[in-house]
Amino acid sequence: MKDKLKKLKENFQKDFVKISDLENLNNLEINYLGRKAGQLTNILRGLKDLSVEEKKEVGQLANQIKNEIIEKIEEAKNNFSGQSMVGEIDVTLPGIPVACGHLHLVTQAIREITDIFEGIGFGVRRYPEVEWDYYAFEALNMPPDHPARDEWETFFIDNKPVGPKGQRVLTPHTSSGQVREMEKGKLPIRMMNISKCYRRQIDVSHAPMFHQFEGLLIDENVTIAHLKGTLDFFAKQFFGPERKARIRPFHFKFTEPSFEVDISCGLCGGKGCKMCKAGWLELGGAGMVHPNVLKAGGLDPKKYSGFAFGWGVERTYMMKAGLSIPDIRMLYQNDLRFLNQF
Ligand code: FA5
Repeated sequence: MKDKLKKLKENFQKDFVKISDLENLNNLEINYLGRKAGQLTNILRGLKDLSVEEKKEVGQLANQIKNEIIEKIEEAKNNFSGQSMVGEIDVTLPGIPVACGHLHLVTQAIREITDIFEGIGFGVRRYPEVEWDYYAFEALNMPPDHPARDEWETFFIDNKPVGPKGQRVLTPHTSSGQVREMEKGKLPIRMMNISKCYRRQIDVSHAPMFHQFEGLLIDENVTIAHLKGTLDFFAKQFFGPERKARIRPFHFKFTEPSFEVDISCGLCGGKGCKMCKAGWLELGGAGMVHPNVLKAGGLDPKKYSGFAFGWGVERTYMMKAGLSIPDIRMLYQNDLRFLNQF
């Protein structure tokens, strides 16, 4: 028994010098002194089988070794916890840094976009995320069952109409704010509607929840030239003075004519590279407000005209030079290793 104790002491000393952190130290303590299966505890348990004489002698040695082990472990614990003496506080030790947060990338983008349009007189709005079918589709020249609705792969709250404005939906685009704004009856209209939108889509370039920003300008004698001027202004302010916008013919039920808006590529300067389509990157939709939409908003299309455009906040921000995000869904996974980079 005595030999066993001496061997245990030797082993402890060898193990002890290898300890480099608190976790190892705790494991060492359990290994030697643990109540259930500690090596020393096991030896002490065997004392009961010895004669009175042996018990006295071996017991003394065992207690002495136990105290030495306890002392060493306690001393090391104090060292690892950064205290040289129990109860003493070293005020010169560095403090624990307080984590400092910052705005989410999408919030930063929304603020930047808002500032640009507020600068030219657009008032910021946020229309409901749970919207009537009427504002999301019908008032936008898409009657019930019109096939164009399919493009907005919509989440429905109700499975049948629940009132004169139809079913409730999770708004699939910010265009639902157009007729709501017209119904206020204040002209001219210069609206910037930035809101959450929802669609049944999910892949590297589609999130089921994303943000759009929608510009709407309505007044007398508004022309495509005003739209083009506004798009160019935004392109230069947001992407940089060397960037340009262009419009291509497209089709939306709520604008006539309709366009797709492109922005000159920041990487190749418009020459064409693997990032872009022949020098241009696609931004989103735009067009002149359809007369039926003006009528739905209570405005006379013979007197008033206007333009509208609606783009994704996430995709627009991702197009900024130097920002290459491989998957749009990363913006919403709340992984701080990703978010802290912006
Ligand atoms: C529309 O939603 C039209 N309301 C835009 C519009 C407004 C046209 C006013 C004319 C006048 P579209 O479905 O193409 O159009 O969406 C516009 C932009 O929203 C896209 O270019 C893209 O940037 C963004 N977007 C659409 N779906 C998603 C999605 N699932 N995830 C992320 N961004 C999306």
